[in-house]
Amino acid sequence: METEDTVPEDLETAFRERYQSSPSHLARAPGRVNLIGEHIDYAGLPVFPMALQREVRIAFRPRDDSLVLAATTDPSYAPCHFEISPRIEPYDDGDWGNYLKAAAQGMAAAYGIERGFDAVIDSTVPVAAGLSSSSAMVIATALAAAGSNGLEPDPIELAELMAEAEQYVGTRGGGMDQAISAGARAGCAARVEFTPLRIAAVPVPTDWRFVVAHSLVQAHKSGGAREGYNRRRAETEEALARVVGYLELPASDVLSYRDLLERVSGSEAMDVAEERLEGDLLKRFRHVVTENERVVRAEVAMRSGSLDAFGMLMNGSHASLAADYQVSIPELDELVGIARDAGAVGARLTGAGMGGCIVALAPEGTVNRVVEGLADGFYSGREWGGSLEDHMFVAEPSEGASVGRM
Ligand code: GLA
Repeated sequence: METEDTVPEDLETAFRERYQSSPSHLARAPGRVNLIGEHIDYAGLPVFPMALQREVRIAFRPRDDSLVLAATTDPSYAPCHFEISPRIEPYDDGDWGNYLKAAAQGMAAAYGIERGFDAVIDSTVPVAAGLSSSSAMVIATALAAAGSNGLEPDPIELAELMAEAEQYVGTRGGGMDQAISAGARAGCAARVEFTPLRIAAVPVPTDWRFVVAHSLVQAHKSGGAREGYNRRRAETEEALARVVGYLELPASDVLSYRDLLERVSGSEAMDVAEERLEGDLLKRFRHVVTENERVVRAEVAMRSGSLDAFGMLMNGSHASLAADYQVSIPELDELVGIARDAGAVGARLTGAGMGGCIVALAPEGTVNRVVEGLADGFYSGREWGGSLEDHMFVAEPSEGASVGRM
């Protein structure tokens, strides 16, 4: 992960103005778009994301003490400072600095590091958009902490540590976001598997295009969306425990859906669930089991270049997330509908949902139509700040995180 790099000029200037010296290193970590496999990483099942060209970048210089001083190029985020230690008191709920603290505390607890750094951060990952701006921030901070202390952690080890560390902000996330941000390969999506974490790169066919479009509804992981997310996760666990009980399997051996699906087939598990569960628990269970099957088939479809098959699986995923996992909202459904009408072969909400983005798949020759369709059909009638590319863009499968010395 250690590379030779140059600091982008704006970041270099901001650093000089703030600290009256030059940064010595640059850490960068990409956001991600999940192509398929939603809300099943915490069930222990494989997911299929890819890293984006949008990333968090941290220009930094190690200090001689244990302080971390951090500012961002976006004036709406106040600068912060704290000491690196294995137990760091969090800021108030919702404070962006908690992502830095999460990473610093995790690195101190795992490696006993004591040296802090001065940092200026910028990010091109839209915030609270379901594109993992927070995990990109955590991974980039962890790399800055590592680089300041002469460590070069392996990406898989770093991703596992940071998946745990990020729970500091209060969302019981799975490990997908940290894994793809740390371990992605350029030009590829990845099958990410858990316990132990494994990442298998799958080349994205060069004529496939994934369009990411924001609903303009924010889903803050450290805010309101946290409760909805944690509740879904608890319901999913409850449904599993009941099915394991009905099947009279040893509860101590079947701790995840993966454990269950290694013992019984998806259709057997569904038969029991249909018979014994009801209401939301049945819905959550059905989403997890069917989404797992879609991930397996999606990987085959991508490897064989079957665009239409991949698109249909994305549509199936969205339907399941809307009806069974109940994490869609009208704006996401509308975006999905517009994208499909404009020629996308498939479209779905991506990330945790309840706001955030959709991802739509189109062949190279049709992608402009999809982008135009979304611009006219969704964005033209609404108010939004910045440029349209801040809200909608064609994703480029990008390289995972790195840290470089200047
Ligand atoms: C968030 C979490 C991930 C994953 C997704 C839903 O992004 O951080 O671990 O659970 O939601 O698939």
